[in-house]
Amino acid sequence: MTDSNRIACNRLRSKVMSADDAARFIESGTTVGMSGFTGSGYPKAVPVALATRIDAEHDAGRPFRVRVWTGASTGPELDGALAKVDAIEFRLPYNSDPTVRDKINRGQMEYFDMHLSQVAPVAWQGFLGPLDTAVVEITAIRPDGSLVPSTSVGNNKTWLERASKVILEVNSWQNAALEGMHDIYYGTALPPHRSPIPLIRPDGRIGQPTLRVDPDKIVAIVETHAPDRNLPFSQPDEVAYAIAGHIIEFLQHEVKKGRLPHELLPLQSGVGNIPNAVLKGLLDAPFENMTSYTEVVQDGMLDLLETGKLRMASATAFSLSPDAAEKLNANLERFRNKIILRPQEISNHPEVIRRLGCIAMNGLIEADIYGNVNSTHVMGSRIQNGIGGSGDFARNAYVSIFMTPSTAKGGKISAIVPQCSHVDHINQDVQVIVTEYGLADLRGLSPKQRAETIIAKCAHPDYRPALADYFKRAREHSYGQHAPALLTESLSWHQRFIETGSMK
Ligand code: COA
Repeated sequence: MTDSNRIACNRLRSKVMSADDAARFIESGTTVGMSGFTGSGYPKAVPVALATRIDAEHDAGRPFRVRVWTGASTGPELDGALAKVDAIEFRLPYNSDPTVRDKINRGQMEYFDMHLSQVAPVAWQGFLGPLDTAVVEITAIRPDGSLVPSTSVGNNKTWLERASKVILEVNSWQNAALEGMHDIYYGTALPPHRSPIPLIRPDGRIGQPTLRVDPDKIVAIVETHAPDRNLPFSQPDEVAYAIAGHIIEFLQHEVKKGRLPHELLPLQSGVGNIPNAVLKGLLDAPFENMTSYTEVVQDGMLDLLETGKLRMASATAFSLSPDAAEKLNANLERFRNKIILRPQEISNHPEVIRRLGCIAMNGLIEADIYGNVNSTHVMGSRIQNGIGGSGDFARNAYVSIFMTPSTAKGGKISAIVPQCSHVDHINQDVQVIVTEYGLADLRGLSPKQRAETIIAKCAHPDYRPALADYFKRAREHSYGQHAPALLTESLSWHQRFIETGSMK
């Protein structure tokens, strides 16, 4: 049931209409900036209505496609619904929807995969073109017309400021107690006018709890009552727990050596079952009063917050399984003072990440023996999701950890390869690589020392001899001896998989 009390600004009530009527404001060939970040806070009604309208236009033989910008990945009612009717011409900055992925990989959709911290500044620079319509989910409209954000902030501030027209979805399923949890910073500016981001602690507040919007730009308000649709995480398996074990042992070792404080440094954790296993492992680890300065709050973080081991978490969005989302919604009061949601240009800001000294933990697709990391492209050419915030954090972290099972696709692919088929994170941004077999601490090592360590510690035993043999021959026959390589062979593992279905 929708709740009209959520719209407390009288002059805006006249803008309430159905999603179908609101979708008519969006025209073919225009750019739409939507809210949404990893399945939370995305608009749930207007994109579906737009997809229905576009489908009807296509049936009538009229072309109709839009350019879609978001915070990051969204839900099936947005990316899924629009992609199924071939409505998206261009997409940025991150996607995990299978239909969208398929269209990109078939060459039917253009995709600009970019660092999430850079989306807002790039939109302000203007070379992406104008933003015609913003479609933003919010929790409520206050009497003064300011907007209470939803379960993600993402790029909403920028979309609301840059768009010529604004459509709001007021979702009464979102808990009204979200009000006050956000910190929207209005001090960003492009060079030469930019000044330092004055955030010096993960729990600092530098902005205001609400979003501003020019009321004259609001063309439609749609009332909804629909849950966020995060996908359930698969439960961590033995491999995930083994990886988590190595990371926790490493962190304990760093504390013992005096290189990390007892409460650690602010944690950043990517999404997926391995990061969740690490967070679960931290429940039993001897660290207290931890903090998190990260992109998304996931299931494992809620558990850590509940026990008090994690003092607070700063992020741009929730990224929860359906069960955890229900739990949060039912018990929001317990978490309100421990979580701050910020625009993604601040949650992922390189300057802040470097200042706070985050411990970054992210997944990878493959790493090569020299420690370069591919987070995005399978066999060098098929996009999986996108770089997301991994680059924002990896380059600027105090320590940058990448983790992965040692093999993929039932053992037919080695996650450790002679050469990455695509590189997102150069070896200088990769300090630690972890698989279920072990942890390679690459700090201070030369390329040849890194190769020896990665092969010995991280490679699956089925692939270790072939990697060692490649490295030995590369040392004998390479053009140079700094990072020895056999160029005609280094990508042959990938070609073999493409041709035979296995790297073996
Ligand atoms: N070759 C081919 N496919 C591979 C692969 C490899 N070396 N490694 C993983 N994959 C496939 C898996 O088989 C799986 O495919 P499926 O969905 O068809 O089963 C898929 O990639 C996901 O892998 P999975 O092992 O389930 O790991 P994950 O869910 O942790 O995802 C990344 C790993 C790298 C794809 C994910 O972490 C990602 O998108 N990273 C980039 C963005 C990021 O780091 N964001 C966090 C920053 S805040």
